Amino acid sequence: MAEFAELKVNGKEYKLPIIEGTEQEKGFDISKLRAESGMITLDTGFKNTGSTQSSVTFLDGEKGILRYRGYPIEQLAEKSTFLEVAYLLIYGELPTGQELFDFKSDIKKHQLVHEDMKKILQGFPSTAHPMGVLSSLATSLTAFFPESLDPNRSAEKINLTILRLLAKIPTLVSWSFTNARGIKANYPDNNLDYVGNFMKMMFNLPTEEYEIDPIVADAMEKIFILHADHEQNCSTSTVRIVGSSHANLYASVAAGINALWGPLHGGANQKVIEMLKNIIDNGGDAKKFLDKAKDPNDPFRLMGFGHRVYKNFDPRAQILKKQADKILERLGVDEPEFEIAKHLEEAALKDEYFIERKLYPNVDFYSGIIMKAIGIPIEMFPVMFSIGRLPGWIAQWKEMRAHNEPIGRPRQIYVGATERPYVEVSDRS
Ligand code: SDX
Repeated sequence: MAEFAELKVNGKEYKLPIIEGTEQEKGFDISKLRAESGMITLDTGFKNTGSTQSSVTFLDGEKGILRYRGYPIEQLAEKSTFLEVAYLLIYGELPTGQELFDFKSDIKKHQLVHEDMKKILQGFPSTAHPMGVLSSLATSLTAFFPESLDPNRSAEKINLTILRLLAKIPTLVSWSFTNARGIKANYPDNNLDYVGNFMKMMFNLPTEEYEIDPIVADAMEKIFILHADHEQNCSTSTVRIVGSSHANLYASVAAGINALWGPLHGGANQKVIEMLKNIIDNGGDAKKFLDKAKDPNDPFRLMGFGHRVYKNFDPRAQILKKQADKILERLGVDEPEFEIAKHLEEAALKDEYFIERKLYPNVDFYSGIIMKAIGIPIEMFPVMFSIGRLPGWIAQWKEMRAHNEPIGRPRQIYVGATERPYVEVSDRS
């Protein structure tokens, strides 16, 4: 029997249908609230508001659960590959052997990028932040594939647009990296797998062939898997709302890249390392920085800590912390930032301020340690997050379009000036 929430306002009663998901999450549907009551809800930052019903990713912030299409992140990180996870997120099921083979072959077919992309890249100063370059290049794909502009085309045309994006972004990222350094661009090698090919395009030099270290490739694979989707976070909500205007996939993802760039979101991984280096440069006194983070008058926040949803622990941070330990040991790399990070985590988890506010390390706290150890430049960290999140953005955009969701257009409560007559400039003081 349908359940309802009852709302009593100004002597009137409204029944709001209760929606229950497959994981027993409940919400009441307010889609008719304004028409029936003339009132709206207000929830700045959408901390209590669901924007959609989705089948892509489930997370439980209290229990530290994260599953892609029902599969636990711990099992996918250990047993799967990034392209297999991308297939799972985008098409909804784990691929058969043949499906995975065909998917990989399709991706390989589209890894090459038009040479004219280099003209766009050469327009950027070498100091350009790679996230600004990436969002520009993602949008510029519409120029090379004008058929991508129409998001209402056939399923196979949309799938071609999806494959091109997944295939070309690693090439574009590596070209932006080599271009910024004035080094000859590397081309995709179809004999390599997705992650190995990316690493080689990034680091291969005309003077020295890049040897793919399986430890490094495995670390990158896991980082991409752990970042692949995260339900309705800031950048994914951006991709969905931009796509809801029937903007094309490339423009929607470019918007997501820009949202992810923010230091409170995907830009945090870069800020974590900068924060840890700052602590080291200032004598390594973690307590001083914890006190700064707790000071309400100090804008400093402990980057990589806290999360809108995870109020217990971020399962990705737990996996990445173990990975960091293993990779640093196997690479024989001594990262002082890692020691400081572990010390900070230990101190914060015992500190009343952090305990009270349920602030734990999030995905960005340890990912930077690993990326730094395997040679990714710090300013590229949010770009790595973008490559990882790409299949999630695509899957969520595809779901929003498949549900034919209406254009996203929130309401507001107006608190500005009430009506007043125009004043001639001569009469203004
Ligand atoms: C990602 O949403 C997702 O799923 C995102 C993500 C994904 O995969 O897409 O998981 C990826 O973006 C991870 C988060 C990366 N960002 C950071 O590490 C930046 C540092 N963290 C924060 O700024 C903050 O914790 C947020 C932005 C992550 C969450 O902020 P909320 O949910 O809006 O919480 P809030 O700002 O209201 O904070 C609640 C309280 C406040 O104190 P009081 O006003 O109650 O006294 O906690 C404090 C905050 O000041 N607080 C922190 C803190 N984070 C929150 N205090 C010090 N250091 C911090 N990091």
